[in-house]
Amino acid sequence: MSVDADAYRAAMSRWATGVTIVTSRSGDTIHGMTVSDFCGVSLEPPLVAVCADKTANTHKLIEQGRVFAANVLTADQQALSNKFASKKEEFQRFDGLDCPTAVTGAPLIPGALVSFDCRVVAAHDAGDHVIWVGRVEEIVSGEGEPLLYFGGAYAGLAG
Ligand SMILES: Cc1cc2nc3c(=O)[nH]c(=O)nc-3n(C[C@H](O)[C@H](O)[C@H](O)COP(=O)(O)O)c2cc1C
Repeated sequence: MSVDADAYRAAMSRWATGVTIVTSRSGDTIHGMTVSDFCGVSLEPPLVAVCADKTANTHKLIEQGRVFAANVLTADQQALSNKFASKKEEFQRFDGLDCPTAVTGAPLIPGALVSFDCRVVAAHDAGDHVIWVGRVEEIVSGEGEPLLYFGGAYAGLAG
């Protein structure tokens, strides 16, 4: 017995998440995309994971560069989330952004709630996605309220 794609999508939309922009670098090339499939994995050593569609440009760049940064967005960064998810002008996403780097060279999104700068330690094939596991080399903390995603729409913290 199997579940069809619509049922799967509808069920997963009931899982509330934060929103990240996952960036990568290989040489002089940088890229990034909006990702909600991010999680903490291990404390010792410090590991996080992101799930990337195998067709995504960002996935291919992580494959080449073996680094990524997961930048957790704040409630007022919804426009950035849309920009990094849109295929319109997909290679102009960093225009107007002045992105610092930390240890790995992956771009950090300015104003993010927190950024995890990671070096890839494992890649797990998972259907049409790859689970990239990164060792956290640096944490850069910001401030603000988180941007949330639920039921196919953005949300904020209640109360
Ligand atoms: C809220 C939100 C969450 C998303 N989460 C993911 C995700 O976890 N993994 C993924 O591969 N794509 C995710 N996407 C889709 C990508 O951001 C989108 O396909 C993007 O255009 C890929 O860019 P690229 O091919 O230039 O790397 C998400 C989009 C939105 C709006």
